[in-house]
Amino acid sequence: RYRDGSAGDKMNPFAEQEAWEDHQIQKATLKYGSKNKKQISDDYQFVFEDQIEFIKATVVEGDKFDDELATESLDESNAKSALEKLQEDRKTLPIYPYREELLKAINDHQVIIIVGETGSGKTTQIPQYLHEAGYTKHGKVGCTQPRRVAAMSVAARVSQEMGVKLGHEVGYSIRFEDCTSDKTVLKYMTDGMLLREFLGEPDLAGYSVVMVDEAHERTLSTDILFGLVKDIARFRPDLKLLISSATLDAEKFSDYFDSAPIFKIPGRRFPVEIHYTKAPEADYLDAAVVTVLQIHVTQPPGDILIFLTGQEEIETAEEIMRHRTRGLGTKIAELIICPIYANLPTELQAKIFEPTPEGARKVVLATNIAETSLTIDGIKYVIDPGFCKMKSYNPRTGMESLLVTPISKASAMQRAGRSGRTGPGKCFRLYTAYNYLHDLEDNTIPEIQRTNLANVVLTLKSLGIHDLINFDFMDPPPSEALLKALELLFALSALNKLGELTKVGRRMAEFPLDPMLSKMIVASDKCKCSDEIISIAAMLSVGNSIFYRPKDKQVHADNARMNFHTGNVGDHIALLKVYSSWKETNYSTQWCYENYIQVRSMKRARDVRDQLEGLLERVEIELSSNPNDLDAIKKSITSGFFPHSARLQKNGSYKTVKHSQTVHIHPSSGLSQVLPRWVIYHELVLTTKEYMRQVTELKPDWLVEIAPHYYQMKDVEDPGSKKMPRGQGRASSQQLGS
Ligand code: CDP
Ligand code: MG
Repeated sequence: RYRDGSAGDKMNPFAEQEAWEDHQIQKATLKYGSKNKKQISDDYQFVFEDQIEFIKATVVEGDKFDDELATESLDESNAKSALEKLQEDRKTLPIYPYREELLKAINDHQVIIIVGETGSGKTTQIPQYLHEAGYTKHGKVGCTQPRRVAAMSVAARVSQEMGVKLGHEVGYSIRFEDCTSDKTVLKYMTDGMLLREFLGEPDLAGYSVVMVDEAHERTLSTDILFGLVKDIARFRPDLKLLISSATLDAEKFSDYFDSAPIFKIPGRRFPVEIHYTKAPEADYLDAAVVTVLQIHVTQPPGDILIFLTGQEEIETAEEIMRHRTRGLGTKIAELIICPIYANLPTELQAKIFEPTPEGARKVVLATNIAETSLTIDGIKYVIDPGFCKMKSYNPRTGMESLLVTPISKASAMQRAGRSGRTGPGKCFRLYTAYNYLHDLEDNTIPEIQRTNLANVVLTLKSLGIHDLINFDFMDPPPSEALLKALELLFALSALNKLGELTKVGRRMAEFPLDPMLSKMIVASDKCKCSDEIISIAAMLSVGNSIFYRPKDKQVHADNARMNFHTGNVGDHIALLKVYSSWKETNYSTQWCYENYIQVRSMKRARDVRDQLEGLLERVEIELSSNPNDLDAIKKSITSGFFPHSARLQKNGSYKTVKHSQTVHIHPSSGLSQVLPRWVIYHELVLTTKEYMRQVTELKPDWLVEIAPHYYQMKDVEDPGSKKMPRGQGRASSQQLGS
C-alpha cells in the first residue's frame, strides 16, 4: 500500500478503495482511540484546491468578552465594572468609528441601505445609537429579524449592554411571545410580527425608525415589508427607514427604494482557506462528524462551526459525536458540543456564546441561523456540508414541502467567512470544487417565489391592498402562486367571488396562523367545540416536538404514545387528548416525563392556546366545549383542511382527492397501521416519500357537505361501488361551509 501519498497512489487502481478503507480505519480509531494523533493527521484527506481572496483586515483587535460577563454577578461593583467593560467593548466594534457619520446620514436621508460584515455591530449597535441620539423620544425603534432565535438573543444582548432588564427598555416580540412593555423603546422582532403590526397600526405611528435587518435573506415577510414600508415612508416623512444586511446586492435595494444612499461599514476579515473534499461525500452528516474529529486532533486551538439543516440533523450529529468521543477520555482535549436551533430552550442557546475554557474546543452545530444572524466569537473552523432546508412550493397542486437543498454560492461564501472573523480561518466544504463551481446557484431564490402565498394574501387583503398584481414587489411572485392563494382563500370562504375579504376572512386574519388553521378555528364556532379546536391548533403550531422518543426506550415511548390513540381516533384527537390529560394533572411535569412528552413543547402549546383563547374573544367566538362529540371536532378540522383530503388505494398508499397525488401516512401517525379509507392531513413532508403528517379519518360526505364549491359528489364516490358514499354517511346535515 502506498501510504506515503506518492504518485503510486494515483496509479493504484485500488487507491480509491484504500482511501475509503483508510477513512473507515480512521473512523474506527477515532471511535476506539487506539491510533496516535500523528497517524490520524497523516490520513487527513482534504486537498487545497482553491483559495478565495479575502481582504486582509488591518484591525487585529478581537472583540472577546470577559468571563465575568457570562456569569451573572451579584456583587454590585462587579456588575458595574462588567457594564463598563461592555461599554468599552462596544467601542471596539467595526461600526463604532462610523457612528457619527451614520447618524448624520440617517438624519439627512429618510431611507438608507446599510451594508456591513456580520459581527460589525449593525443589529446590536445601530438601534442603541438611535436611542442615544434621541430618536426614541418620539417613537420606538423597531428592528426586524428573519428568525425568532436571533430576535431573542440580540434583544438579550442589547439589554445587557444597556444594563436594563429584558422586556423593559429593550424587548422582543415573536409569534406567541411578546416580551415588551410600555417602557420598550428598542424592539427586536421577527419580520412576520412587524407585518402583523400593520394590521393594528397601518402607518406604524408608534415607530420613529424601522430597521429591516438581514434584508438579504429575502424571507416572504421581509419582501412584503419592503413594499409596505416603502409605501408608508411616502406619507410619513418623519419615519426613518434602514435596510441592513451583511451581504446585499446593495444597488438592487437602492434602486428599489428610489435610489436610497448606500452606507458601507468596512469590515474586518481575515483570510480564509477553503478546502474541498476530493470526491463527493455520500453521507455528509457522517463526513461532518469525522471532519470535526479530524480538526480536533490535528488543528491548532479554535472553535468549530458546522452548518446543518435542522433540529433532527443537529441532534443526530450531536449523538454520533458524543458516541465517538466517549471512549477517548483524556486522549483528546475536551470537546464542548453546543447545538443551536429555533426550538432550543433559551438557557441552552446562551451556552453557545460562553467563552470556551482553556484547552477545550467548542463545536457549534447550527442551522442557517449562524450564517449571518448570529455572531459567535472564537470560530476558526467552519464545516459546510453545502445544504440547507428550503421550502418549495408547487403552485399547480398547492403543495408545499420542506426540502434539503444545495445552498447557493452566496451562502457558501457567507458560511466560509464565519471562520475569519477574529483571525485567519479555515473552511471545510464537504463537496468538491467542481460541485461548487458548476452545481450551486449564484444566489438563493427569494422565498416569495417558492412558497404558498395564502397567508400574505390574506394579510394584504386585510390591509386593504386589493390589487396584488400591481403591488410593489421587489421580485414579484409567480402569478400562478398568487392565483392559487386567491383560490384557496376563496375555497375557505375568506374571500368572495370578487376577491373581497368576507366576514369569515376578517376573523381569520386576526389569528397569527396559517389560513387553514384559522379557518378551522372560525368554523369551530358553529360546531360548539372552540375549546377543543384551539387546543388542537396550539398543539399543531408547536410542531413535531411533542413526543419524546429516546433511542434506548423507544418501545416504552411508543407504548405511551399509543395510549393517546386508543380507538384510532386519529392524530388530531390524540393531540387533544395529550393536552387535556396534561391539563387534568394541573400541567404536571412529572406526568410529561412518565408519558414521554416534552414539557417544553407542552408549555409552549399552553402559551399559544392562551393567546388563541384571547383572540377568540376578539372575533366574538364563544369558548364552548364539546369533548365527546368527536365528529363535531373532526368536522371543524375538515372545514379548514378539506383541501388536504386523501383516499386509500389498493396498495396501501393514498391519493389526494383534488390532485391525485400519491402520498403515504407518516410512520409516526397513530393511523399508519390502520389505513382508513378517507383521511384528512395537516401537512405533507417529503423525505423518502411524500408523507402526510397529522392524519385523521374523515367521512367523504363531509367534503361535499362542508365544501360544496370545492368538491362534487363524483370526487368522493368510489369508482368500484357507485352507490356507496351518500348512503353510508351518518354526518349531520349541518352546514359548515361559510
Ligand atoms: O449585526 P451584525 O452582524 O453586524 O453584528 P451584531 O449582531 O450587532 O454583533 C456585534 C457583536 O456583538 C458581535 O461581534 C458579538 O461579539 C456581540 N454579540 C454577542 O456577544 N452576543 C449576541 N447575542 C449578539 C452579539
Ligand atoms: Mg446582525
